[in-house]
Amino acid sequence: MSFRPAHVLRTHISRRLASLRTMYRPASLTTLFAALLFAATLFSGTAIAQSLPGSTIAGAPWWQHAVVYEIYPRSFQDTNGDGIGDLNGITSRLDYLQHLGVDAIWIAPMYPSPQVDFGYDISNYEAVDPQYGTLADMDRLIAEGKKHHVRILLDMVLNHTSDKAQWFIDSASSRTNPKHNWYVWNDGISADTPGVSAWQKRFEHEGKVPPNNWVSGFGGSAWQWVPAVHQFYYHEFYKQQPDLNWRNPEVEKACFAAMRFWLDRGVAGFRLDAIPTLFEDPKLHNNPELGGTNAYGDPRVGDTYTSNLPEVHGVIRRMRAMVSSYPGDRVLIGETYLPNTAELDKWYGGAAQNELQLPMDMLLGFHGDHDKLDADSFRKHIMEAETQVHGGRPLFVFDNHDNVRAINRYGDGTPNPAVDRPLVNKVLDAVLFTVPATALTYYGEDIGMVTTTPTRREDVKDPIGITGWPKEKGRDGERTPMQWTPGPQAGFSTNPHTWLPIPPSYKTVNVEVESKEAHSQLEWFEKLTALRRDNPALRDGGITMLDPTNPSVLSYLRSTGSGAVTVVAHNFTAQPQTVSLTSAAVPHGAVHTLLTDAPSLESTTSLTHITLPPYSSWIGSVK
Ligand code: NOJ
Repeated sequence: MSFRPAHVLRTHISRRLASLRTMYRPASLTTLFAALLFAATLFSGTAIAQSLPGSTIAGAPWWQHAVVYEIYPRSFQDTNGDGIGDLNGITSRLDYLQHLGVDAIWIAPMYPSPQVDFGYDISNYEAVDPQYGTLADMDRLIAEGKKHHVRILLDMVLNHTSDKAQWFIDSASSRTNPKHNWYVWNDGISADTPGVSAWQKRFEHEGKVPPNNWVSGFGGSAWQWVPAVHQFYYHEFYKQQPDLNWRNPEVEKACFAAMRFWLDRGVAGFRLDAIPTLFEDPKLHNNPELGGTNAYGDPRVGDTYTSNLPEVHGVIRRMRAMVSSYPGDRVLIGETYLPNTAELDKWYGGAAQNELQLPMDMLLGFHGDHDKLDADSFRKHIMEAETQVHGGRPLFVFDNHDNVRAINRYGDGTPNPAVDRPLVNKVLDAVLFTVPATALTYYGEDIGMVTTTPTRREDVKDPIGITGWPKEKGRDGERTPMQWTPGPQAGFSTNPHTWLPIPPSYKTVNVEVESKEAHSQLEWFEKLTALRRDNPALRDGGITMLDPTNPSVLSYLRSTGSGAVTVVAHNFTAQPQTVSLTSAAVPHGAVHTLLTDAPSLESTTSLTHITLPPYSSWIGSVK
């Protein structure tokens, strides 16, 4: 098992208004509202401004159309020469991010931390780790971000803290400490209890073993003994990441206060780390055994009693109400690895839509081993997300700091070395930016950075890569420094000793080179975000699938019900594919190409016979 819930395997190990939205939405409220506003501005003689990244489209909260860009702060830009990225580095790159079409950045944890899990072990929720800068640097980043129309989203880790957080130090000091019940403690059971497994006995202390078979996502028992209190505490992740006890109302009060601290400073919202795992079964039932062992040698078990418990939704509803009390459409994004769309729907609050605005939909972007560019499954899932979350806005994502990059994962479903990776990246970006969804990208996806996994255990920095080697090589490969230039350290740092090595690809895969190169990945990314922002059908329209049984080409119509419609086609295969995109859903009218990465399709003026080169995309308008 990996750090993730058991049903979502880390690929490399074996690894919202819109209640009126229909499959083909004739005219959304958004569009009607925009049209009324447009008429009103014409009347008043004020010209309507061209949309800017980050600007609010009339009638819809900003996040519905947003491009959100995840930044791993250690790896984005170093400005003080210590080989580790920092907040001032992010501020220095706001021009780039604005130009890229980014509306918001999600910054992985930058709070004080012992950095066991590179920030996901927070020791103080209301400060900045000195290696990333100061609170004043964060305030400047928020202020400068505003000038660049780039909002700042923070990563909020609520499932657990660091074992060096004062809350835990107090909790672990004695059973009578007022904070003892802030974490999940258990006396354990006698090692002689019938049914105790040999594996449980490995964690025996003072004749006691963990009360059940719960396995930490990062290896070993999820229970850690503390001699001072003669009890075990529960940790879903590393033992240095004790789980908070969300059954204690004081925990909710303290965590909401930490969130308010940042909301008061002007952050636009939060990405909620590991949010489905806030609660565990109070009766401590064993998780179901799945057979076999994980990368760390532990029995593979499910997460029935440790993840996605219904109690979590009460917390999320109260959190949404708290966050919504702030002006400016603050948003809650969830790290929600869930087994299906019905479960995802609950995280929006179902019909009430009163929980997360944007629970991440991981079902499209993270299929499993050797993710397959399969038109049928993409089609099915995009329509499911469009129609089965009570009008909630889907949030699609293909890349993050925990998984092998999509450029390496996706292909024909086999580890085929012949797959043209850069083209695969382009087609995935084209899907991400043209379907009706908020888009979440990860630094490096903009330039086509590849995963660069360490080849020697002694080079690994991510602890799970050390304990799990060689089955689990850790997450360093997708966390390497951003490649800005072909110069020293790829322009990331002046220090040759960067915290992770600069991947060899930096000479050609970098911002400087790609910004001068015609048809580069970077140019493609920028054109896609600009088109998505400025094309009403892509921004606000409903979706109708075209050619719906084609296993190789994913194609669809985007339409607001008035004005031009936009037709999109993606070839998911390594062979050329010819399609005819005429159907009753597509109006008869003049066709013109809006954007394509295939030079042969630039002058396409008909939908009847389009030959898409391997892994290419074509986007056209019909009016
Ligand atoms: C999910 C985060 O994305 C991952 O990096 C982290 O290790 C775990 N949660 C624990 O916080």
